[in-house]
Amino acid sequence: MNGKAMDSFVTTNRSEHTRDSEGRSLANRGSVAMPNPKHRTKGTGAGLLTKDTNILITGVTGLIGGELVRRLLGHEVGKVFCLIRPNPMGDARARLIERLRFSADDRTDRQGRSLEPVTGDVASPRFGLSDQDESQVAESVDMIIHCASELSFIHDERCRETNITGMHNLIDLARRCERRPLIVHLSTATSCGAVSHQCLGEDDGYDLDNGHHNEYTRSKAMAERVLRDSGEPCLILRPSITLSAGISARKFARAIVWFVPLLREFAALPVDPDSRVDIVPVAFVAESIMRLLQKPQLKHDCYNVSAGPDAASMCGPVSAFLDTFYKRVEPLILTPPSEWTKEKHRQYLGAAQQRKLFSTFRYYLPFLNMDVVYDNARLRAELGDDFPEITPVTEYLGDLLKLVARENP
Ligand SMILES: NC(=O)c1ccc[n+]([C@@H]2O[C@H](COP(=O)([O-])OP(=O)(O)OC[C@H]3O[C@@H](n4cnc5c(N)ncnc54)[C@H](OP(=O)(O)O)[C@@H]3O)[C@@H](O)[C@H]2O)c1
Repeated sequence: MNGKAMDSFVTTNRSEHTRDSEGRSLANRGSVAMPNPKHRTKGTGAGLLTKDTNILITGVTGLIGGELVRRLLGHEVGKVFCLIRPNPMGDARARLIERLRFSADDRTDRQGRSLEPVTGDVASPRFGLSDQDESQVAESVDMIIHCASELSFIHDERCRETNITGMHNLIDLARRCERRPLIVHLSTATSCGAVSHQCLGEDDGYDLDNGHHNEYTRSKAMAERVLRDSGEPCLILRPSITLSAGISARKFARAIVWFVPLLREFAALPVDPDSRVDIVPVAFVAESIMRLLQKPQLKHDCYNVSAGPDAASMCGPVSAFLDTFYKRVEPLILTPPSEWTKEKHRQYLGAAQQRKLFSTFRYYLPFLNMDVVYDNARLRAELGDDFPEITPVTEYLGDLLKLVARENP
């Protein structure tokens, strides 16, 4: 527990917008088994993923998709088609190998199984697959794991194209598939929108009417709705903030912690030291997903993959860690936004450079001050003793910051 009053951990029921016209919760319409009876494994002791499950996975050059694909290779599954965007830096196979190398694991084959890269773009109709790749996918795929996404907080149009149009394209493709694949969709816990001071359960998730701090989270909420409305069999997974602990790629570290070194430019900032932030390492996310997929059947069709109230971080202690890490003479002063007066603004953001930097933080400050955590009780109950360890952020944040600094002194 982190000092908050107990009642702030109670999951609230804000599910007005997450119910369909008959009042059913859209966040959990029931259990998940393989939709095609031929591939159902209920009662056999095998998981949703079996040695015969053929998979299409998107977003494999990314942080979470890359970790999932290398774990899939270590399991007995059928074919694994990896959708990869065309890129002048290399063909699909070269890009896949480059991504796996960041995890010190660059093999695209293991124990007789191999990954099959296919070129495509989720924002294009039929994912831009060649006729040959599309017919292979349509004939054989039992599961589509969808990790491809635009995560930018500033490129609104790209978020809509990749995340919403991409979801429509995914559904069209799934409907062309002969085996009615299960769609495993990587959404985000932040699809809840601009809420504050809560512990949110899955039924409180995606909310389009709630207001959003940016188009990324709104487009992810919209993508969930499009998927739900399609009626296609799905499993929705909502990671909280996922950091690239243990991965050697600077780009993944920078994607989220880029602003942390810049905090040294300030003596004080409008951040509530008691605000909780739900942060998890990528190994926790990838392992949780793999372990869910190995279950014969899941009780729910939506899970938060999050630190939850017990393992969430708090701004104050993380800031104290950074004071030590950067050997600050004076600790950074964190002031709750409600106490950040005009006088303080003038006092602490006097220099033009500070004001400029501060304006780039505006995308992040709402998330630091939301004081929202995402309940992981469902995931804990489903995985039991197999619930993976959640390493505290202060145990790996230093390594990520060194990685960011080392290659760009
Ligand atoms: N990281 C987090 O903190 C976090 C938290 C909650 C939820 N999630 C969700 O988890 C999923 C994976 O996130 P991540 O952190 O792994 O993201 P990431 O590292 O930015 O990777 C995004 C992946 O999507 C691919 N992609 C983007 N646009 C595409 C397109 N038009 N066609 C095909 N592929 C495309 C990228 O390919 P290129 O290499 O070609 O760009 C990359 O492989 C996303 O759905 C995200 O919303 C992430």
